[in-house]
Amino acid sequence: MNDLGFEHIFQAAADPAAPTLLLLHGTGGNEHDLIPLAERIAPEAAVLSPRGNVLEGHMPRFFRRLAEGVFDLEDLRVRTHELAAFVKASAARYGFDAERVIAVGFSNGANIAASLLLLTPGVLSGAVLFRAMVPIVPDPLPSLRGTRILMSNGRADPLIPASQAEVLADLFRRCGAHVALEWQAGGHNLTKRDLDLAADFLRT
Ligand code: MLT
Repeated sequence: MNDLGFEHIFQAAADPAAPTLLLLHGTGGNEHDLIPLAERIAPEAAVLSPRGNVLEGHMPRFFRRLAEGVFDLEDLRVRTHELAAFVKASAARYGFDAERVIAVGFSNGANIAASLLLLTPGVLSGAVLFRAMVPIVPDPLPSLRGTRILMSNGRADPLIPASQAEVLADLFRRCGAHVALEWQAGGHNLTKRDLDLAADFLRT
């Protein structure tokens, strides 16, 4: 285990004014998975890419689940706070701006990014969530005013019912976030259009 709490990759930005992308892989992925995606959607950004600390069989994840789509909420809370602490410690170690961290998460990684937004507001200034579902509903809701969120889900995703994405987008809006929910014709896998939408979102 790395001394910051997660095995990870950090790549500094060529432009010091560029934001840092927190890359969060899907179930069975690792810290290398989303590096090419980041280079495609925001080549100027710094990247911080941790590997999930939970193992399901041999597959890394960011938090435990009890079944497909049924989350261990106690573990989710603990892991979310661990990841928030990792982001802050990494900002101090590598010298990037902790106020300008944008998560880019896929599937399980998108779900922990959503949990970071809801449980540890202030850690992320924005997020790109590919194929996310509702991780947890905090009570009371946090303020996410000023936070920009792009969600992109698949109409034919066998893992995530469309209603889940609608409920999550609505939850973020009730917290005051600015949310764009985009629908893709396909399923769980990412498409070129997902990447184009993310690149546009990160440019503005
Ligand atoms: C999750 O467990 O976070 C979701 O079911 C998505 C996934 O399979 O990773």
